[in-house]
Amino acid sequence: MGLGATGMLGAIATRKSRNRLSHYLQAFQAQASDDPARSFAVDREMALGDRAAAKGLLYGAATQLHLLEENPEFADRFVQECKVLVTENDLNWREIRPAPSQFDFAVLDQLFDFTQAHNLLFRGHSLIWHLREILPPWLRDSLGPANAEWLLIDHVRTVVHRYAGQTHSWDVVNEAIDPSDGRADGLRDSLWLQALGPDYIDLAFRVAAETDPTAMLVYNDHGLVYDIPRHEARRTATLKLLERLQAQGTPVHALGIQSHLSAQGREFNPQKMRAFLRNVADLDLKILITELDVSDYELPTDLEVRDRLVAAAYEDYLSVVLDEPAVIAVINWGLSDPHSWLSWARPRSDEESSRPLPFDENLQPKLAWNAIARAFDNAPPR
Ligand code: G3I
Repeated sequence: MGLGATGMLGAIATRKSRNRLSHYLQAFQAQASDDPARSFAVDREMALGDRAAAKGLLYGAATQLHLLEENPEFADRFVQECKVLVTENDLNWREIRPAPSQFDFAVLDQLFDFTQAHNLLFRGHSLIWHLREILPPWLRDSLGPANAEWLLIDHVRTVVHRYAGQTHSWDVVNEAIDPSDGRADGLRDSLWLQALGPDYIDLAFRVAAETDPTAMLVYNDHGLVYDIPRHEARRTATLKLLERLQAQGTPVHALGIQSHLSAQGREFNPQKMRAFLRNVADLDLKILITELDVSDYELPTDLEVRDRLVAAAYEDYLSVVLDEPAVIAVINWGLSDPHSWLSWARPRSDEESSRPLPFDENLQPKLAWNAIARAFDNAPPR
């Protein structure tokens, strides 16, 4: 039965107030888990990159050329704190491949030059990713069995060749898992899979390895952290994929664990996470903690409480994952709060700015910075 205009408005209003109520409830629960006495003390003299390096770890962040260019203070901060720069958007197909036979490296080259000028490692994200919004319109409309193999090989070869011998690592394939698509192998039923079958993953890694035998080749995915059925299924599918790749001799060197954390962290189970990391390490793979940030979406407005809960989530998570010797790098997804994708993708309902990263809008370190520093200081050396 239809609702009619008034009924519809009523339903929307009810849904909105229910959302608001659930937000306040979550904020209230979060506040209850806050421990005002918890210490995040650390001396702020040494940069995060140097602290990580002291333990044989690599620390850095993702960013975009325009952010570095628009704000020299941000660029200085980036260089001070980081040892590796990851391409947040500038490597996406939409940005570098305007037409099937045309590449545009103008922006990416400048970002790469920035790394060379400032002694930063360069890490590319990502070569093959299904997400429609990062694909150029011509590709969305035309990708299919007739052209996919040529496009994939040409893309990986051209991009990897351009920075060959000077790249720390590539996210060769990003987010290829999605057990909810119902395939027995747990793979996402993506455009690439539909065009080429599951072996598109192996193909991308082989072409990357042939083109630059010196770069670390990474499979990167999300939803692997929490003790919830969806993440459990994703961990299982990821291990299955990595085992299959290893068995067929695919040159995959590491797993990138996207770590978009939630500040409440209630479903984090250290034992399960440690076991997962060990299983990956047992496949003779390294592990990178990639895309690290802590969403404060559901946290109370109070800044002190909010920053403390975010910091707690950082330290609780990092102190567990850094215990695993196969973990070699930690990468924040952005360095300064206003640059975070969360600021527009998950705006807070109280209209306060979100604070998911180690530096605030004035480029000042927050408690999240202390938490990361403490985790590095307490990590066993590699
Ligand atoms: O600049 C506009 C902004 O003004 C506007 O509010 C916003 C609303 O849509 O769009 C902004 O442009 C976006 C741009 O990021 C801003 O940085 C683009 O539409 C959007 O496509 C682009 O999103 C990026 C997204 O990946 C898709 O490429 C994010 O920056 C980037 O942080 C995000 O990163 C992904 C990883 O690559 C893979 N894992 C998940 C992660 C978060 O979604």
